[in-house]
Amino acid sequence: MLRVGYPAVFPAELLRDFPSEIELIPLPDLLDHDVTLDVWIPDPYAVKAVKLWPRLRGVKLVLCQMAGTEWIPPLVGPHVTICNARGAHNISTAEWTLSAILAMLKHFPFYGEVQREGLWKRRFEVPSRYAELNADARPLYPPVLLEELTGKTVLMVGHGSIGKEIERMLEPFRVKLIRVARSARGTDAVHAVSELDSLLPQADIVVLILPHTAETDKLIGAAQLALMRQGALLVNAARGPIVDTDALVAALNSGRIRAALDVTDPEPLPVDHALWHCPNLLITPHVGGSSPEFARRSLAVAASELHHYLAGEPLDNVVQLAV
Ligand SMILES: NC(=O)c1ccc[n+]([C@@H]2O[C@H](COP(=O)([O-])OP(=O)(O)OC[C@H]3O[C@@H](n4cnc5c(N)ncnc54)[C@H](OP(=O)(O)O)[C@@H]3O)[C@@H](O)[C@H]2O)c1
Repeated sequence: MLRVGYPAVFPAELLRDFPSEIELIPLPDLLDHDVTLDVWIPDPYAVKAVKLWPRLRGVKLVLCQMAGTEWIPPLVGPHVTICNARGAHNISTAEWTLSAILAMLKHFPFYGEVQREGLWKRRFEVPSRYAELNADARPLYPPVLLEELTGKTVLMVGHGSIGKEIERMLEPFRVKLIRVARSARGTDAVHAVSELDSLLPQADIVVLILPHTAETDKLIGAAQLALMRQGALLVNAARGPIVDTDALVAALNSGRIRAALDVTDPEPLPVDHALWHCPNLLITPHVGGSSPEFARRSLAVAASELHHYLAGEPLDNVVQLAV
């Protein structure tokens, strides 16, 4: 019988769609003895999963519950197949992205400070912040206290499972969407990443939603940040190292752009890091994929992969095929 290890913290009811022809092995956070498994569903927190791995024997398939799996190949080596939970984070991460965009355009981080200070009148600082950041010299009356998303140009770098969900959620705002992926696709008007530099100056908002790989490391560096419009918003919902942190700190401190980051490089961000003190920046501590629905959705993906595996069918979300 196929032996499938899973984190014991998950309630049994979430495993009800798993095939009946498997033996389920609940795994504690730490093991003091070896355990033989065929399939390993690691704890969603990589730091916990990494500690368990040295005690696991015989694993042929890893069903990761996250979309990003970059920590797994160096841990398990090339002889293990690895799948991610593509699709399980679509709604949560897309909602984070929409919230971050709206929060920044509506100046919510600033109004949060105003609220804590109990200074109602500070809201009239927004017009000058807006004019300076956006280099918008129009004499606007009444003054700008909030900006609009509707009609803006959004450049989405990465147009996969989550990117398509973000696009769906952006629809009511009637934005002009420019899509970028690895290569151009005429079918859904996707540009190749090789065109990125020519597209960046067109965007009011740049959303990063692609994996961190050798190719995407520091994809957004000083040169790309310099190509962004004055006051444009960079939203990183993907992985921290896709952006050159030093270049981002410089661009923010110079007042050229604004940013919303769910992910940073490094993570966790040290208490004394320069990013904490940058203006026009919203940081959340890598929580974009988090939701009360997360475990149910990611274990449903795992259940589907197990049905395929038992039937000898191709798996849906292979990120590494065992050699
Ligand atoms: N903040 C969070 O909590 C959180 C939660 C979940 C996921 N994420 C991040 O989001 C990423 C995307 O997830 P997903 O489920 O949407 O993945 P996905 O379905 O695999 O889509 C990835 C997209 O990125 C594109 N891409 C890959 N390499 C690229 C490159 N070198 N240049 C340009 N585009 C490239 C792909 O292009 P093609 O279409 O050409 O293949 C595809 O459009 C994950 O890898 C993870 O890092 C973050």
